[in-house]
Amino acid sequence: MANRFILNETSYHGKGAINHIADEVSTRGFKKAFVCSDPDLVKFGVTQKVIDVLESNGYTYELYTNIKPNPTIENVQTGVEAFKKSGADYIIAIGGGSSMDTAKAIGIIIKNPEYEDVRSLEGVAPTKNKCVPILAVPTTAGTAAEVTINYVITDAEKNRKMVCVDPHDIPVVAIVDPDMMASMPKGLTAATGMDALTHAIEGYITKGAWELSDMFHLKAIEIIARSLRGAVDNTDEGREGMALGQYVAGMGFSNVGLGIVHSMAHPLGALYDTPHGVANAIILPTVMEYNASATGDKYKYIAKAMGVEGVDGMSVEEYRKAAIDAVKKLSADVGIPADLKDIVKVEDISFLAQSAFDDACRPGNPRDTSVEEITELYRKLV
Ligand SMILES: NC(=O)c1ccc[n+]([C@@H]2O[C@H](COP(=O)([O-])OP(=O)(O)OC[C@H]3O[C@@H](n4cnc5c(N)ncnc54)[C@H](O)[C@@H]3O)[C@@H](O)[C@H]2O)c1
Ligand SMILES: [Fe+2]
Repeated sequence: MANRFILNETSYHGKGAINHIADEVSTRGFKKAFVCSDPDLVKFGVTQKVIDVLESNGYTYELYTNIKPNPTIENVQTGVEAFKKSGADYIIAIGGGSSMDTAKAIGIIIKNPEYEDVRSLEGVAPTKNKCVPILAVPTTAGTAAEVTINYVITDAEKNRKMVCVDPHDIPVVAIVDPDMMASMPKGLTAATGMDALTHAIEGYITKGAWELSDMFHLKAIEIIARSLRGAVDNTDEGREGMALGQYVAGMGFSNVGLGIVHSMAHPLGALYDTPHGVANAIILPTVMEYNASATGDKYKYIAKAMGVEGVDGMSVEEYRKAAIDAVKKLSADVGIPADLKDIVKVEDISFLAQSAFDDACRPGNPRDTSVEEITELYRKLV
């Protein structure tokens, strides 16, 4: 079987990248932007940096901000109505995964209105048309939604996060500007950075991984491992590294899938509104231990990419432990809690385990799993 690989048409990287939005709007002949960005980003003046570029070039726009972290079906549906009234012909998504994912779902439904219920988009939906063109400007260094073919929407009635996979949603332009991420507080930098590391590690060991995706994931692990501590301290080098590292991870996992760290993190976002990166970071080492036997010699290369020395002289058990320990150390160094005790209520575990098993990322896990084994993994963490 042939492997498919999908990436953005165009991407810009580095400080000042947002200024290229003006050229892209002009060359593509876009008329009016529908700007999707969450209320906090508007309040902190982050959204304004892009609006300044639009205004100084005389471009018109409409701002849509009914977007919460772990965005809901309602956030998408009111967005679809607002888009219809706006007269816009393209979208600028400014934010973390929540703003970018909401923008993707709005863009898909506008061009494929038979999916207006949103729920029918879960999994792989056979939409016929490309979404409204999106220019995506990430403000966190984590999800890489600007280069992925995925978006995640919460069904608040069913306490369920729906992972939607659709090549029609990929933004036409990604603008990855570390200055847009500079205002992130330490905790958010740490959590979103650990989300990116989880993408790189799960994408590297997922069932569908192959040489091309391995190339992205190993490089991403290396860049993230050397940059995240600095980014949390808000150094230029750290921010630039994380902006690139999370994007490189996205180029990989978007094309091959993830595993049960994400499957187990999604229900925590749906039920407790746990930040996505925090959930992943806490679960990652435990699932790495569980998956180790199904990963051949891959943990050797993870350990090397994480900067562990002397890996070549190690036994299989030693390098697997070294890879997991390096992940645990990075997570602890950036202030992530070690377990889910303050998050998960024990009586919810059977609901969480079933929900994780039903998640679209589960089939990609390198080790075949079951509801019972996922239950056991949650139990280890509480
Ligand atoms: N599409 C994908 O491929 C993909 C991949 C992983 C995760 N996700 C989804 O993305 C969502 C999480 O996104 P996220 O982790 O980027 O966070 P987010 O978008 O939910 O934002 C979290 C909070 O951080 C604030 N924030 C964002 N950027 C900031 C900045 N520069 N300065 C100050 N505050 C800032 C936001 O206002 C918000 O309050 C989840 O719903 C998750 O399931 C999507
Ligand atoms: Fe993620």
